[in-house]
Amino acid sequence: MATVLNTQFGIDGHLVFKMDASGLIVAEINNELGSASLCLQGAHLMSWQPKNQAVPVVWLSTDAKLAAGKSIRGGAPVCWPWFGAHATESGFPGHGFARTVPWRVIESGTEPAGETRLTLRLTPSDKTRAQWPHECTVDLTVIVGATLRMEMRTENTGTTDFEIGEALHTYFQIGDIGAVSVTGLEGSEYWDKVGGSNLRKQDAEITFTGEVDRVYINNEAECVIHDEQLKRRIHIAKSGSLSTVVWTPWVEKATKMGDMGQPDGWRQMVCVESANAIENVVKVAAGCTHTLIVEYRAVSV
Ligand code: BG6
Repeated sequence: MATVLNTQFGIDGHLVFKMDASGLIVAEINNELGSASLCLQGAHLMSWQPKNQAVPVVWLSTDAKLAAGKSIRGGAPVCWPWFGAHATESGFPGHGFARTVPWRVIESGTEPAGETRLTLRLTPSDKTRAQWPHECTVDLTVIVGATLRMEMRTENTGTTDFEIGEALHTYFQIGDIGAVSVTGLEGSEYWDKVGGSNLRKQDAEITFTGEVDRVYINNEAECVIHDEQLKRRIHIAKSGSLSTVVWTPWVEKATKMGDMGQPDGWRQMVCVESANAIENVVKVAAGCTHTLIVEYRAVSV
C-alpha cells in the first residue's frame, strides 16, 4: 500500500509514505522549510518542526501509540462531526469518529515557495453512517513549510442540511506549562468545563496553575502562546472557527490518562484548539461547503 501511494503521490525526498509497525500508513514530509508527519488514519498530523526552530512546535507524547481504531496522543487530532461528548449517545466516541477512521490521499504537490501540500479525504462508510447519517466529504489539506497551514473543508453532498461541531485539537510543545501564557482571548466569554459548566469572561492573558478546560466562544482572534523557556512565541491564526479551546490536564488528570509520556510529559504541552463548538456549531446547508483554516508560525524572541 505504501508503495502504491509513493508511486501516485510521493514527491522526491519531500513526501514519503511508510508503513508503521502497527500497519498504519504515515506520510513523512521533509523540505527545506520544515518537516512533519501525518498518519492517514484520522488524517492525524503527528509532528511539525520548522527548520528555524530547534524544538518541534507540535507536541507528540513519548507514549503515543499508533493502533487501528485508536486516537494518537498529541499532534493535531481532527475532532469531527461533534466536539466533546456526543449530545445524546454516551456510547459514541468523544470528539467524533473522524480521528479514528481511515482517510485516503487524494492529492499532493509543491507550493511555489517550496512548501509541501497533502490532501486527505474522509467519506462516509456504513460504520460512520450508523453514528452520523449524512452524505458529505471532508478534505483536510496540510501545507508544511516554515509555517503550518491546515484547511478542513466539509462539503454537504446530500439533499438535507446538517450541523457539525469540529476542532483541530492541536497540542503545542512548550518549555513548561507554568512558564507560558496565552494572549488573544482577553474580553472573550468561555464555558469553563472544570468543576461544572459555567459561562465566564476572560479578563487578562491566560496563565496556568491547575487544570484548564475552556471553550472560548464567538471569537476568531489570533492567539499567541508566549513561551519564556523556549524563548519563542507560537502564533495561531484562523478563519471559519468561532471557538477556541484551551486545555491542560494538569497532574491528576494526566496521571489518569496514562499516555502523556515521560515523567511530567503533560507539562511540555498546551492545547489551543481552533474549533466550532457548543453555540458555535456550524450548519452546512445541502450542496454547501464550510471551511476551517488555521495557520501556525513560531517566532524566536
Ligand atoms: C479537550 C477537551 O478538547 O480534549 C477535554 O476540552 C479533553 O475535556 C481533551 O479531556 C482530551 O480529549 P481526549 O478524548 O483526546 O482524551
